[in-house]
Amino acid sequence: MDGNGRWAKQRGLPRTEGHKAGVEVFERICEYAAGLGIPALTFYAFSAENWVRPQEEVAAIMNLFRRQLEAAERRKAENEEKRWRIRYIGDLEDGGPVPADILRLLRDMEHQASDKEKTIVNIAVNYGGRQEILHAAQRLARLAQAHALEPEDFTEQDVDDGLYTAGQPALDLVIRPSGELRLSNFLLWQSAYAEFWFSDILWPDFTEAHLDAALAAYAARNRRFGDVE
Ligand code: FPP
Repeated sequence: MDGNGRWAKQRGLPRTEGHKAGVEVFERICEYAAGLGIPALTFYAFSAENWVRPQEEVAAIMNLFRRQLEAAERRKAENEEKRWRIRYIGDLEDGGPVPADILRLLRDMEHQASDKEKTIVNIAVNYGGRQEILHAAQRLARLAQAHALEPEDFTEQDVDDGLYTAGQPALDLVIRPSGELRLSNFLLWQSAYAEFWFSDILWPDFTEAHLDAALAAYAARNRRFGDVE
């Protein structure tokens, strides 16, 4: 969801207003993508490296997570269902940098998230692709230490099973708005054979039509997975 800061600056607003506008777009795109039947989406909301931003901006983004989690709780209590269910992914261990009340809220929500038919919406928070792969490697090392699995028997599936996205559909398409042409530590393992769609559009200006354009570009690609033709 890149470009929130620049979008706000263009309008003479504080950067945090860009993030607020970004959440509205996030909601709209989730609704639209769920309607299209896309089984899983992942939004890069806060990287493991984003903590170095000004404290005021970090606090404002944390408040947006709080608000999203509280709204989800309220909807659940009122039986007002959405077509998509949220999962938070990233290093969300106790004692880390993510505030404890947010961890509590998201654990409560995960207990409730059950409907397997719905589109999965991953919100990546305190997320880093390298850290995720390291986390999966540590899990395998522990299994080897316990002789539950020998290192020579490790498979790619075993690594997959230790990722935050374990059990979810394969990643087909990565969309990066705002003109940056890099992955920035996003879904490194999962994107090995993904297609990419880059655009100069700033995230708060991203619309359903942009998602349609990205999907149309994706549909026209020839995915060979190492094969010919
Ligand atoms: C990147 O744009 C955006 C972020 C680091 C924060 C995104 C987080 C949100 C929109 C809040 C998400 C909350 C929910 C509930 C989904 P940038 O700030 O790097 O923009 P710039 O490159 O123009 O400065």
